[in-house]
Amino acid sequence: MQRFTNPRDIYHGKGALEALKTFEGKKAVICVGGGSMKRFGFLDKAKSYLEEAGMEVRVFEGIEPDPSVETVMKGAAFMSEFEPDWIVAIGGGSPIDAAKAMWIKYEYPETTFEDMCKIFGLPKLRTKAHFCAVSSTSGTATEVTAFSIITDYEKGIKFPIADFEITPDVAIVDPELAETMPKKLVAHTGMDALTHAVEAYVSTANSEFTDADAIHAIEMIQKDLVASYNEDMDARDNMHTAQCLAGIAFSSGLLGIVHSMAHKTGAAFADFGAHIIHGAANAMYLPKVIAFNAKDETAKKRYGVIADYMHLEGNNDDEKVAALIEFIRGLNDQLNIPHCIKNYGADSYPTEQGFVPEEVFLERLPDIAANAILDACTGSNPRQPSQEEMEKLLKCCYYDTEVDF
Ligand SMILES: NC(=O)c1ccc[n+]([C@@H]2O[C@H](COP(=O)([O-])OP(=O)(O)OC[C@H]3O[C@@H](n4cnc5c(N)ncnc54)[C@H](O)[C@@H]3O)[C@@H](O)[C@H]2O)c1
Ligand SMILES: [Zn+2]
Repeated sequence: MQRFTNPRDIYHGKGALEALKTFEGKKAVICVGGGSMKRFGFLDKAKSYLEEAGMEVRVFEGIEPDPSVETVMKGAAFMSEFEPDWIVAIGGGSPIDAAKAMWIKYEYPETTFEDMCKIFGLPKLRTKAHFCAVSSTSGTATEVTAFSIITDYEKGIKFPIADFEITPDVAIVDPELAETMPKKLVAHTGMDALTHAVEAYVSTANSEFTDADAIHAIEMIQKDLVASYNEDMDARDNMHTAQCLAGIAFSSGLLGIVHSMAHKTGAAFADFGAHIIHGAANAMYLPKVIAFNAKDETAKKRYGVIADYMHLEGNNDDEKVAALIEFIRGLNDQLNIPHCIKNYGADSYPTEQGFVPEEVFLERLPDIAANAILDACTGSNPRQPSQEEMEKLLKCCYYDTEVDF
C-alpha cells in the first residue's frame, strides 16, 4: 500500500493570500524570516487579513536561513505562551520549515529534537493548532510537503523531519510573493524544484500519482526557469506552480541521494565562511547522480522517459541519459551556477578556486559520505551506494569528473 497526501486546501493564483480572510479561529501566530516579507508588504497584508477574520495576531520574526534547533525551540516557547490555534508561516523554505518544527514542539512540549527526527514517527498534531504555509520562493515546496529541514550547527548537519503529520492543512501558492525574488534565489530554488521532480520520478517510492506531478513539473521548469531567471514575470508565476507540483510529487514519492549529499555537505564547511546553498548543491550533484543511478536499468528507462517528455535527442536510453545530463549542465551555465564544489565560490558563483579547500574536503570526505548514506533520502534512491561509491561520487562532485562506476 502506498499513500498520497497533500494539504486539504491549496489556494493558488495571484491574490491567493487573501484566503487568510476566510480562516476561522481566535489566535494566529505568523512566522517569518529576516525581513523580505516585511519589506515587500506581505507580512502586513497577512496580518490584516487574519485580523479581518477576527483573530488576534502575533508575529515571530527573524527566522534565519537554514534554521537552527535553537530557533525552533525559541519559536515553540513563543507559541506556548500565546497559545495560537493557527500557525501561519510566510516566506521561503527556512521560516516555513522552522515553523513546522515549532508546531511539533508546541503540541508536544516534552518532545526533543531527536524525537522529531524519527522518520514517520510523530504523534498526532492538530490538538492545539492548524498550520498554513505561504511560500515566497519557488523551490522547496515545503508548503505542500511532509518535510522540514533543520540544521544542527554543532554537528554541521541538516536533519530532515519527515512525517505526513506536518503536511500543512492549507498551502497558499500566490505568485505575487515570488516576483520579488532576486535572480540568484530564482536560480537556486528553481534547480531545487527540478531536482525534486527528477528524484521523485526515479525514486523507488514513485507512483502514478506522483509521476503525473513530477513530469508536468519538469516540462514547466524546462519551459520557464531560464525565462523566470531573466525577469519574465509570467514565467516567474509559472515556476511558482511548477515547484509546487514537484513538491506534491516528492512529498509522497520521496527523493534520492542528490538530496542526501546536499543535506550533508550544505553546512559541512561553514567554518570556512559559507554554506553550499541547497539548490546550488542539488544543481551541481544532480548530473553526477543521474550518471550513477543510470547503471540501474529501471532508473535508466525512467530517465529516458523524462528525456522523451522534454523532447531531448537520443536514439536509445544511454543517449537520452547523456542528453538529460547535458541539458542540466547547460541550465547551470545559464543560471550562473558552477558545476562542482571546487569551483563554488563563497558567493555561490563559479570561480577558479572555491571556498572549500581540497585538503579539507578530502579529510572530511569519509564522514560526509557516511552521513549521506544514513540520510533519510537515501532509502528511496534507485541504486544504493556503498561507502566507497558514495566517496567516489562526492569526489566527482568536487572535481567535476565523470562518473564511470
Ligand atoms: N521542507 C522541504 O521539503 C524542503 C525541501 C527543500 C529544501 N528545504 C530547506 O529549505 C531551506 C531553503 O529554503 P529557500 O530556498 O526557500 O530559501 P530561504 O527560505 O532560506 O530564503 C533565502 C533568502 O531569500 C529571502 N527571500 C525569501 N523569499 C523572498 C522573496 N520573495 N523576495 C526576496 N527575498 C526573499 C529570505 O529572506 C532569505 O534571505 C533550506 O534549509 C533547505 O534545506 C526544505
Ligand atoms: Zn530540495
